[in-house]
Amino acid sequence: MAPLPIKVYGEEVLRQKSMDIENLDGKAAQFLEDLKLTMLQARGLGLAANQVGRALRAFAIDLSQFDVLAEPKVFINPEIVDVGGNVVTAEEGCLSFPGLFQNIERSDRATIKSINLDGKEYLFEASGLVARVIQHEIDHLDGVLFIDHLTPAQRTLIKRKLTRIKAGERV
Ligand code: NI
Repeated sequence: MAPLPIKVYGEEVLRQKSMDIENLDGKAAQFLEDLKLTMLQARGLGLAANQVGRALRAFAIDLSQFDVLAEPKVFINPEIVDVGGNVVTAEEGCLSFPGLFQNIERSDRATIKSINLDGKEYLFEASGLVARVIQHEIDHLDGVLFIDHLTPAQRTLIKRKLTRIKAGERV
């Protein structure tokens, strides 16, 4: 296992729409382990495959810093089934935007369907922070970034920071 380099804002792969993983072979399983390891080492709450340069529909989440019983999880070919509940504003960051934190509106409930390594489908229902992280990661798979949820005025305020991130700096 080896951690993978994380792509930062400005790299084209972050804007790509990811493709389903068709072949759940040993290589795919190894990649998913590496994705999880990369997230854990970077202390992220979530990491999508295109953030490490592979436009595949998969992401990892780790909420163990909020819930000691939470194990890191990997989702394969996930799709949103339902999003609802209250719309809540909370601060979000992203490993592809080092140092940038912004208040983002998200629904506080989300259900996704995903498959396990045996190709078996299952539903995963989430609320609160987990629902937020899942929506953020699903966005990544569609080439959508958290800053896309900001208003044009909010985007203008962070323009200089975005330029610095593109240049490889932490803001
Ligand atoms: Ni992100």
